[in-house]
Formats: sequence, C-alpha cells, structure tokens
Amino acid sequence: MNAQEIRKSYLEFFEKRGHKVIDRALLLPKDDNTTLFTGSGMQPLLPYLLGKDHPEGARLVDSQTCIRAQDIADVGDNRHTTFFEMLGNWSLGDYSKEDQIKWFFEFLVDVVGLDPNKIYVTCFIGDEKHSIERDTVSAEIWQKLFESKGIDSKIVAIGSQEDGNQIGMQGGRIFYYDDAENWWSRGGGLDKTPIGDPCGPDSEVFYDFGEEHHQQGYGLPHPASDSGRFMEIGNQVFMQYKRTDSGFKPLDKQNVDFGGGLERIAAASIDSPDVFQISLLKPIIDQLEIISKKKYQDYTESMRVIADHLRAATFLAVDGLLPSNKEQGYVMRRLIRRAVRYAFDLGIEQNFLQEIVPVIADIYQNDYPEVKANRDQIIEVLIREEKIFRQTLRKGIVEFSRLATDKLTGDIIFKLYDTYGFPVELTHEEAIKNEVPIASDAEGEFARLMEEQRQRSKAASQK
Ligand code: ALA
Repeated sequence: MNAQEIRKSYLEFFEKRGHKVIDRALLLPKDDNTTLFTGSGMQPLLPYLLGKDHPEGARLVDSQTCIRAQDIADVGDNRHTTFFEMLGNWSLGDYSKEDQIKWFFEFLVDVVGLDPNKIYVTCFIGDEKHSIERDTVSAEIWQKLFESKGIDSKIVAIGSQEDGNQIGMQGGRIFYYDDAENWWSRGGGLDKTPIGDPCGPDSEVFYDFGEEHHQQGYGLPHPASDSGRFMEIGNQVFMQYKRTDSGFKPLDKQNVDFGGGLERIAAASIDSPDVFQISLLKPIIDQLEIISKKKYQDYTESMRVIADHLRAATFLAVDGLLPSNKEQGYVMRRLIRRAVRYAFDLGIEQNFLQEIVPVIADIYQNDYPEVKANRDQIIEVLIREEKIFRQTLRKGIVEFSRLATDKLTGDIIFKLYDTYGFPVELTHEEAIKNEVPIASDAEGEFARLMEEQRQRSKAASQK
C-alpha cells in the first residue's frame, strides 16, 4: 500500500468501527497560542479530551497535518521531517484499551500488511512516587494478540532508555519503560506534564527494519533506542489523568488518543527505513534528481532537506500563510530560504521552485481539495519568496567581492548577514570558491558581534 492508500484505508477502517471522520485543523492553531503550529492530532481536540462534548460524538478519526519547526535541524536523516501527517483516532470516554490495541494491530497487520514478526511494543512500567500503576492490562492484551499470530511474546521490564542500551531485548516482544518513554503529555514525562493538561500512560508500536540497521555507539538494540533499527509508528495514549497542582487526578472520562505518523507507517509498509522513499516524498526527490542531474544516493541530505522544507512551506501556503519576518511567517521564510540554500549543494543556482511546488501540489491535490483550489496562488507565493531571496543573495555576492578582497573576517561575515541577510554558510562557500582565506578568528569574532547585537536589541526593546 502506498501512503495515500494507507491514509484512506485508515479513515475507512475506523469509520466502519463507528468513528466520525473529522476535517484536519489548519496548521496555524486557532484560539491556542501554546505552539506556533499544530504539532499533533490531539492538539485541536484538547477541550474534548478534558471533558467537553464533541459535536460529532465520542469516536473520531482524522489525518492531521502537523509541523514541528523545532525538528528543523534534524531534517536530513532518514526519518525526521518538519511536516508530517498524523493519523489519529479518539475515544472520548467510549471504547476501551482492548478495542484500541486490537484495532490498531488489525489495521497494521491485516490492512496495511505488515509482518507481525517485525512489530515490537512498549507499555508504561508504573511510578510509585506518583501512585501510577504498571500498565499490565495493555501488556496482556498485546500478549494475546501476538500469540494469536503464533508469535512468542515475552514481556521484559526495561526502565529507561539507558537501561535498554545496557541490557538489550532479552528475547522480549513487549517492553516496559519509564515515563520518559511511555507517559504522554504535551510537555513530556510525568514531571514535565503541564498543569491542567490531560495525560496518561501510553503504549507505543515499533517496526523493526532489521539488525543491519542498528548503528554502532548506541549499546544493545531495543525498541526505544535511537540506533536506527526500530522506528516508532504509532502511539496509543490512554488519557486517563489530568495534572493538577496537587498531583495526577483521574479524568471523569477515560479517553484514548491515538497518533501514528502516516509517513512512518508508509515507510514500514515498503520496508524502507527511509521515509523519503514513500509516495508522498519520492516524487519530489525524483524531480530534484532530474533538475540537478545528481543522484539521491550522492546528495541524500541536501535532497531530503529541500524536499521536506518545500513540502512544509507549500502546506503553510495552502493554509493561507505568507513568508514574513515574524513568528509563523518567519519559519516559513526560513524553510524556503534553507531549501534554496541547500539547492546550491546540488548545483541549482537558478530559480527552481516553479518546477518543484507543482509536483508537491500534484501529490496532495486529490486528497486535499484545498490544494487544488488554491494551486496557482500557492505556487506564486513560494516562487515570489524565492525571487526575493535570490535578489538578497545577488546583493550579498556583490558586497562579498567588494569587502572580502584579501581576507574573510568575522566583521565581514557579520555585515553581510546583518545588512544583506546573506547566510553565513554561503559566505564561507563564497570564500572557498573565490580562494579568499578565512581569518582564523572569524568564527569567534562573528559570534561576538552577534552577541553584541543581541544585547543592543534587548536594551532597545526594554526602553
Ligand atoms: N498525542 C499523541 C502523540 O502526539 C498520540 O504522539
């Protein structure tokens, strides 16, 4: 199944089980200033997870477009993207853990067709200090499901990620981890749960890409390790608590909040640990190969960054955002500019967004009518930003040749950056290209000038 088919089948699967399909929320959160962008499927549903009645009922399903701008620097490896879709289903005080776990397993194995032998799961180990029980209920449900497929399913208590690195899997299939791994709130583990937020133990599902993907330096393999062998493809949060000033109090309604990355499930379905190979990203990579006449295998990181950033920026344009110098608009500007900057690595120095953004629109327009409806405008917004940035770059290059005649100093890097918005990495590249030596203290001087400027603007804003 490709990603589009997985999305469609997921919505249908849960619709058949009494869920109402709800529209995705916009990437720019409404009446919620806690984050710049919608970053999970549950975020727009927060009031309902805290007890308010949802107009569409107690069983909901959707595919929520998300942006996690905080992941921007991680893009380039095989799994991080700033933009992704989170498949989500919810029980607002309706069905049980048993239904949730059974359905998701059935979806993965019988609908998507994943090999159950490659699925490993985790549950919450419990926490005495906060009087939260070990989630033996979930572990036992999992055990029965694996056994129904003839799979040995030993339960192993691991504890922390570091413990896992030391002791490894010990032949287990189901693992207990501490709250850093298996407690979910918008802030993280137990003590990081924001006061007033719903939260609870979770049960995560991992896909095993095989021992050959385990990288050295992480200790022994186990599902919650970052070694590259396992990838989390779904998280079932049993939202049973609300954090108050005096501790974790049971909610009136015991909810289920499921979220699973569509891109990751699609990667598991083609047994590739590289999400950029799935049907929502591969056409962008293919187009980059055509335009640049370079191969993905030789320019992997740059192509991933460009594909991810332009997909994110395209969806921001779909949701009506324009590049600017503040807040969300600034993130959008940064995404586009980073993509243009990374294109230099591929030898693309001319305008190229007009050849990429239509490919992205094609990927999504059948499933998201708002993409089709605004297609020309979206393309226009991105192309315009690229042109503005290239003017900046041109001016920067002229200034570079004027200033950096015999040596590139921190002062020049700062001036180009501060006055012309010329990216620091490009200044370095210009120096190398033009064989201008870089002063040994250039980096330190640049950092000092940046800091001075920060102090100046802080003083100015306090006046
Ligand atoms: N809300 C959970 C998550 O974002 C499902 O992972």
